[in-house]
Amino acid sequence: MAAILGTVKYGIIGVGMMGREHLINLHHLRSEAVAVVSIADPHVPSQQLALELARSFNWPLEVFSGHQELLDSGLCDVVVVSSPNMTHYQILMDIIHHPKPHHVLVEKPLCTTVADCKKVVDAARKRQDILVQVGLEYRYMPPVAKLIQLVQSGTIGQVKMVAIREHRFPFLVKVHNWNRFNANTGGTLVEKCCHFFDLMRLFAGSNPVRVMASGDMDVNHKDEIYDGKVPDIIDNAYVIVEFENGSRGMLDLCMFAEGSKNEQEISVVGDIGKGEAFVPESVVRCGSRVAGRDGVQTIKAEDDRIKYDGLHHGSSYLEHLNFLSAIRAKGVQALAVDLQDGLISVAIGVAAQVSIEKGRFVTIEEVVNEHI
Ligand SMILES: NC(=O)c1ccc[n+]([C@@H]2O[C@H](COP(=O)([O-])OP(=O)(O)OC[C@H]3O[C@@H](n4cnc5c(N)ncnc54)[C@H](O)[C@@H]3O)[C@@H](O)[C@H]2O)c1
Repeated sequence: MAAILGTVKYGIIGVGMMGREHLINLHHLRSEAVAVVSIADPHVPSQQLALELARSFNWPLEVFSGHQELLDSGLCDVVVVSSPNMTHYQILMDIIHHPKPHHVLVEKPLCTTVADCKKVVDAARKRQDILVQVGLEYRYMPPVAKLIQLVQSGTIGQVKMVAIREHRFPFLVKVHNWNRFNANTGGTLVEKCCHFFDLMRLFAGSNPVRVMASGDMDVNHKDEIYDGKVPDIIDNAYVIVEFENGSRGMLDLCMFAEGSKNEQEISVVGDIGKGEAFVPESVVRCGSRVAGRDGVQTIKAEDDRIKYDGLHHGSSYLEHLNFLSAIRAKGVQALAVDLQDGLISVAIGVAAQVSIEKGRFVTIEEVVNEHI
């Protein structure tokens, strides 16, 4: 198979925690004829950690300190952008404008602002020869994927309410602490919660209209100082999202909730029944109004295609598998998560951040047309 298809050569831009996670995932996909051939990262310790991994995989790597040299090297067919959020915009524009076509998997969030997302979407539209997938990988977590399947098959009827609770540990320490400031991340509700807004939109089967949120930095990072500045990222919030079809979503985010059995608990209620997913328990529950409590079924969600669970319960592996199949289908297979999905998930996050600031509902129209 490898000989027939030819090896797809990957480059990884940004080899911190997530870039190395991509490297390991791609290694687990080696039987699919993929290889990582180069990396770009200005931070020598990150380069060294990636090189050590690649050496253990027997993958020789070209190392660059910047993405432009990696692109100019002409070594790669595909690039994974896993550098900090505030660098995505320029890197994406340089990839899109490069004479050699490179397919791109860009980590979430697509960009830190809606204006930048729109410019990327416009530029990419003119490059029909490249595929750009956004790393909204929660869709692939087995219990979430199972719940999506259940909802889309009509089992619970017309979706009315989507509640997502993420209760977890605080933000981890990152290279040069880039994730401590809204200016770098886009804000917690963009950086982290674009995943959940993407899921809400999928479950609702509709686009968002307006957003109301309340949140603050109440517990974490208050005693940290970087270059004389205290972090400004919120660590808890409630966000309500209303959708065009009348359904509504609610996010309950808490980042000082280490004492939780699950990190994500998702509940989707329709006019016929209810579905729930629990991560990392990897359990899905489904019931109907008619069958009541006694009729609730519990299903263990598994996906035996996953060869590496990694940091995100196998979702990065399935994301790569899916993207690779879209690349090999040469434009015939639609991308699972496209630029529009990336843009809307950022727009909901931005609307939520602005809502907290202004203390009112913020419409998606205001955010997308930059009327705020
Ligand atoms: N899918 C997920 O759930 C998930 C999880 C974690 C992180 N992420 C995303 O992955 C990206 C990276 O996060 P991380 O946790 O790996 O951060 P990190 O700080 O661990 O790593 C970032 C790396 O990028 C490098 N870098 C900085 N500027 C660069 C540039 N201009 N070009 C190339 N490399 C550059 C840094 O030196 C560092 O090595 C972020 O966009 C983040 O939101 C996604």
